[in-house]
Amino acid sequence: MSKTLVITGASKGIGRATASLFLEKGYRVINLSRSNPELDGLVHISADLSDASWVPQHGTNVVAAIGEADELVLIHNAAMMHKDDNETVTPEALAETFQLNVIAATQLNQLLLPHMNEGSSILYVASTLAEKAVAGTCSYVVSKHAQLGLMRSTCQDLMGRGIHTASICPGLTDTEMLRNHCNNDTAILADMAALSSYNRLVKPEEIAYTLFFCSQNPAINGAVIHANLGQRES
Ligand SMILES: NC(=O)c1ccc[n+]([C@@H]2O[C@H](COP(=O)([O-])OP(=O)(O)OC[C@H]3O[C@@H](n4cnc5c(N)ncnc54)[C@H](OP(=O)(O)O)[C@@H]3O)[C@@H](O)[C@H]2O)c1
Repeated sequence: MSKTLVITGASKGIGRATASLFLEKGYRVINLSRSNPELDGLVHISADLSDASWVPQHGTNVVAAIGEADELVLIHNAAMMHKDDNETVTPEALAETFQLNVIAATQLNQLLLPHMNEGSSILYVASTLAEKAVAGTCSYVVSKHAQLGLMRSTCQDLMGRGIHTASICPGLTDTEMLRNHCNNDTAILADMAALSSYNRLVKPEEIAYTLFFCSQNPAINGAVIHANLGQRES
């Protein structure tokens, strides 16, 4: 049986760890991001998903790359996070964030659903900020809440198709996105680590394993799975 993963944003962080794990598990892995992860065996399609015209440019290549997969796992992982708030967020930043974090996922679903057989899955890498807000990340928070709605409507619209879906919400995970967000400030990173029950950041590999687990379990359908080591609530 041929098993294929299509993932966005596997050039670094959570996506890269996830692509590596699925390769180890015997999946063909196809990645869409701007830079190449350079992982052995991975098929890379260079695409900027923040530009809606990526579909006419690269859609045919993506469909050709999946071939005749018996089981297709689709993971929407690529995202961007601006520092903005209700008073400073610009229509342009909101639109760009929506395109990458929400609309590109819809475009990819529409491209690949005709090729997804029973046993396939669509997983969304969400965030703690898909269900709550913190100050200073307005466009990201809004987009992640919308992406959660997209997952729930994916579940309802695909009833009976044998394709399951879920949103996996990483807590503070040690990746470039998080480090850039706090300007690589070790004191801020330590404060963030202290918010978890284990006094450390989540490892990208832990989210990769959670995504793999969800891909294998149709009982997890329409579900929101938090993977955050247990977060201290203030
Ligand atoms: N790290 C955390 O603490 C955390 C917490 C909660 C949720 N998350 C979520 O986890 C997911 C992965 O984040 P990460 O922390 O692993 O981030 P990361 O290390 O910054 O990786 C982001 C990935 O997205 C890709 N990407 C960014 N802009 C793109 C574009 N315009 N077109 C195509 N691909 C693009 C990047 O590839 P290129 O730059 O090569 O294009 C990269 O592979 C995201 O959905 C994020 O919201 C992360």
